[in-house]
Amino acid sequence: MTPLATSIVIFGASGDLTHRKLIPALFSLYQRGKLPEKTIMVGFARRPYSHEQFRQLLLTSAQEHAAKFDLEAWAHFSQAIWYVRGDLNSTDDYQALATFLENIEGGSANRLYYLATSPEFFDDVMINLHVRGMTIEDKGWRRAVIEKPFGYDLASASALNKVVHSSFRENQVYRIDHYLGKETVQNLLFFRFANAIFEPIWNRNYIDNVQITVAESVDVGHRGGYYDHSGVLRDMFQNHLLQLLALVAMEPPNSFDADVMRNEKVKVLSAIRPVNIANTVRAQYEGYTASSGVSPASQTPTYAALKLYIDNWRWQDVPFYLRSGKALHAKTSEISVQFRRPPHLFFNLERGQKLQPNVLSLCIQPNEGVCLTFSVKKPGSASEVQSVSLEFDYANSFNGEPLPEAYERLLLDALLGDAALFTREDEIALSWRLIDHILAGWATPQAPALVTYRPGTWGPNEADLLLADDGRVWRLNCGN
Ligand code: BG6
Repeated sequence: MTPLATSIVIFGASGDLTHRKLIPALFSLYQRGKLPEKTIMVGFARRPYSHEQFRQLLLTSAQEHAAKFDLEAWAHFSQAIWYVRGDLNSTDDYQALATFLENIEGGSANRLYYLATSPEFFDDVMINLHVRGMTIEDKGWRRAVIEKPFGYDLASASALNKVVHSSFRENQVYRIDHYLGKETVQNLLFFRFANAIFEPIWNRNYIDNVQITVAESVDVGHRGGYYDHSGVLRDMFQNHLLQLLALVAMEPPNSFDADVMRNEKVKVLSAIRPVNIANTVRAQYEGYTASSGVSPASQTPTYAALKLYIDNWRWQDVPFYLRSGKALHAKTSEISVQFRRPPHLFFNLERGQKLQPNVLSLCIQPNEGVCLTFSVKKPGSASEVQSVSLEFDYANSFNGEPLPEAYERLLLDALLGDAALFTREDEIALSWRLIDHILAGWATPQAPALVTYRPGTWGPNEADLLLADDGRVWRLNCGN
């Protein structure tokens, strides 16, 4: 039996995401022989391109962004790329798209619809696909990948979910969080659950605190218009940071089945205590209000730090400190698990010496790896202790092979029908509930003031004080 064709239809095909991430990822999958045999890619957008013009534009971006570029491979691959001009809110244009797809597919085919548009068009795409009968699975499967942001708050996310469900069943829907496609984020699961030595101590009896840092050195650049309406909590915490937290804190799932995995994450997210507003810091980098698209009087935070607790047996009373911001000293994403101190020290440490705690750092990017610090006796000294580290880094252990891009893994999973690394509606709702609570707190007189920080630093002093008040410091061990 000849395999069905698989069409990947990209809505918002003239945008940045298509050029910088989606096409390079699909090309990379193609070069690795991972794309389905008969894959057809169709871009849908407003600009009046011919098929050939569209391919030419994509060629330039693929040359720039693909991990590996081979012109001969591109010549083959690009023959499967097509372009349909259309308005996202014109039902007639969806009819034209449907007809084009049917002609080119030449019979039954599977379809992956990728919503790479700006979020205000998500409803239009969903509704029009439904109206034109393009979600019915009588001639192959139909799936929709929905980019972030999924909603602006809980109410809008729930409304969007309703629209999504009027067009697709939940198991046809793939809500993307590209952090889940990062190799090192998946490695978190392997690290925790493919080794027997960490899980027995992965709890409140041995862990003092957990820190999650997602720092970016870039500023808002040309995205001021979008960003000024979002801010760091919506842009980074609702999705990426809370997903990282869920993976660090969840119970062992009993299989890698999508729903089993997501059930465990939901349990963690639902156990997070509403954040005490006094345990939050919000800040804006100096110069932000001069960026294009940003209001000169903007109060939008580009940085936030917070402390939260998870109310369950494993994590009761263990603080989780989360921080993220733009225009910081370096780009680095790191999860640091700090262990408790030994219960009794019988060494006579030299005067003024403090024992450093054991810290396990999971380095997500850019120096991907794992680092464990521990104390040793300094050679030749009587009782001088020194903190040293045991390190694993991907580049050294895997011959410098570049790690696959997050979008490669996620696109492939969506094509294979594996939703384990995509977020379910209840995860999204719980995350928004937490974020909405903080945003509401920030709108009250008790809210901490919006402070500023200098670009190129690690953020405002207030974030250090948040930990200093608990006798702790932020830890960064991944080569910074
Ligand atoms: C996106 C945010 O989701 O993640 C951006 O909208 C941010 O503001 C980006 O820059 C960070 O992703 P990465 O993969 O570069 O860490």
